[in-house]
Amino acid sequence: MKQSNIQFDNTGKLRHFLTIEDLPKQTLIDILDTAENFSTVGTQRAKKVPLLRGKTIVNLFFEASTRTRTTFELAAKRLSADVLNININTSSTSKGESLLDMLRNFEAMHSDMFIVRHNQSGAAHFIAEHVAPHISVINAGDGSHAHPTQGMLDMFTIRRHKKEFHNLRVAIIGDIMHSRVARSQIHALNRLGVPEVRVVGPHTLIPRDANALGVHVFHDLREGLKDVDVIIMLRLQRERMQGAMLPSEAEYFSQYGLTEEKIRIAKPDAIVMHPGPINRGVEIESSVADGPQSVILEQVTNGIAVRMAIMSIALGRKQES
Ligand code: CP
Repeated sequence: MKQSNIQFDNTGKLRHFLTIEDLPKQTLIDILDTAENFSTVGTQRAKKVPLLRGKTIVNLFFEASTRTRTTFELAAKRLSADVLNININTSSTSKGESLLDMLRNFEAMHSDMFIVRHNQSGAAHFIAEHVAPHISVINAGDGSHAHPTQGMLDMFTIRRHKKEFHNLRVAIIGDIMHSRVARSQIHALNRLGVPEVRVVGPHTLIPRDANALGVHVFHDLREGLKDVDVIIMLRLQRERMQGAMLPSEAEYFSQYGLTEEKIRIAKPDAIVMHPGPINRGVEIESSVADGPQSVILEQVTNGIAVRMAIMSIALGRKQES
């Protein structure tokens, strides 16, 4: 596995976390194992460890977020870092300041890490190419390209429930075309050795080159659900759709919505995942989202430990077990 990509420094240490695609399996395992060590911090009386004391982390969210922004903030605070949450709408970008000039100002404040969400694919990579050498950049979701910390928290959740990856069948269902989450999940599942990754959805929402990603394509939900261990539902990402790609939400739900009846086609101990935000009655029946097989809120909890792991590894302060 080449380690010359921008994500590693010249000693081979992970510096930026931009995409799972170019990362070796061992890096992913290190993140999962480190997150395991952090997973009890949230249940301690004092929910803090001193690992990133003295570090300054800047949350730069140019696009809406509920889970990712808040769990990054919590993760940073639980590592004892100082956190700046930048409200882009009230920043001086509205007075014409360029992105790079804004970043130079945060560098001048001796920041150590930028967490970046942006609606343009490649934004976090662009920033990583232009920051000062001591700064790490973490991609918190860029356009339809990648959402690598979401991908890793999903792998953590799968490993917690299924223990191993080498014997799993995983179905990712819905709007694969516009999903940065699906792309990161597929890279991680393939790298971790999952033998069968399926994508399920209408022709209009599956990329033409999906097979090249190392997945099996299904257009019939019942076929795609047969004997799977893990069901990952995705919402329709209308903000990234151009033109009419679907008949109606009711028609979509009847064909691709996960219901109590359809879930029985999967293995009896299959888990149901969703990165959120969920759209009840569009891609998932409410009783399934809240049902006994759903691990959707566990994913949110796990996101804190996984983000603690990624931030501490990138800043060279890895927690030992
Ligand atoms: N899963 C996810 O990225 O959710 P948010 O958009 O709320 O951060």
